[in-house]
Amino acid sequence: RAALLAAAAALAGSETKSARAQGGPVVIKFSHVVAPDTPKGNGAQRFKELAEERTKGRVKVDVYPNSQLYKDKEEMEALQLGSVQMLAPSLAKFGPLGVKEYEVFDLPFIFKDQAAFRAVTEGPVGADLFHKLEAKGIRGMAYWDNGFHIMSANRPLHHVADFRGLKMRIQSSKVLDAQMRALGAIPQVMAFSELYQGLQSGVVDGTEGVPSNFWTQKIYEVQKHMTLSYHGHLAYAVIVNKKFWDGLPEDIRTILDGCVKDATTYANALAATENAMALEKIRASGKTTVYTPTADEINEWKKALMPVHQEMVSRVGQPTIDAVYKAAG
Ligand code: LMR
Repeated sequence: RAALLAAAAALAGSETKSARAQGGPVVIKFSHVVAPDTPKGNGAQRFKELAEERTKGRVKVDVYPNSQLYKDKEEMEALQLGSVQMLAPSLAKFGPLGVKEYEVFDLPFIFKDQAAFRAVTEGPVGADLFHKLEAKGIRGMAYWDNGFHIMSANRPLHHVADFRGLKMRIQSSKVLDAQMRALGAIPQVMAFSELYQGLQSGVVDGTEGVPSNFWTQKIYEVQKHMTLSYHGHLAYAVIVNKKFWDGLPEDIRTILDGCVKDATTYANALAATENAMALEKIRASGKTTVYTPTADEINEWKKALMPVHQEMVSRVGQPTIDAVYKAAG
């Protein structure tokens, strides 16, 4: 399998070169799983516009939203094989690649606010984690923030006991698995593209997610109750096939680095407002109740969930957890 990946990666590099030799533009396929009108969807679109404009057509970016091309797990493999060049998966989806340290970002209540998250990703922890991707044939370019998770089900979720026996959809993260178990729920990994159907058909009873995704995937149509717990954080890593990247001319790489930087500022600025707007639209739909937990209820959740940090030391590693605590303050 490693040999196959290496061969495909070499091919990805040589394809780039031959396209250039023939005078055509370099094509970057950027695949993602969410709707176009989300912070990530808009960030990808902004990157496309900037890249095409600033390279004066030497680079063409084709954005494929909504899991059109690949679902969660497949898109990681497609990137390594060079079938697509760019992705922005959530940090909860890097465990299956073998880089378990990324799951530190899924620890419940680890960031008190967005600034704490940024302090971590913009400092040495963010850089170290990108470094770990290189052995997988991937180059990390930027972190995009998408705010905090809320919980949903067809029953009110106020107390920890309300989760007992519920099948909860999670992303492919062992920390999220432990989190749901700590609440007494039964976690089930499911691709994002299957979530609506999974909830509608009752394969799963509930989920966690951010309002922009709950709105654009119409989750409010199939979940009667949402709780604004903000217990976990959702963020993405913008990543590129390393061999492809290394095969690009230096001036193009410099321009594209600048485009990612500017698209990052744009996407990060959008996250808070788009999620707030989505929540308003969900409330206005009248199809679901949106519950704000009391301070006592949040303390109850914290009491059940904080032991997950200790439990996950063997998975994520104490040095990574300590470095995140320190940077997040
Ligand atoms: C999820 O699978 O719930 C999210 O990672 C989807 C996304 O990319 O926002």
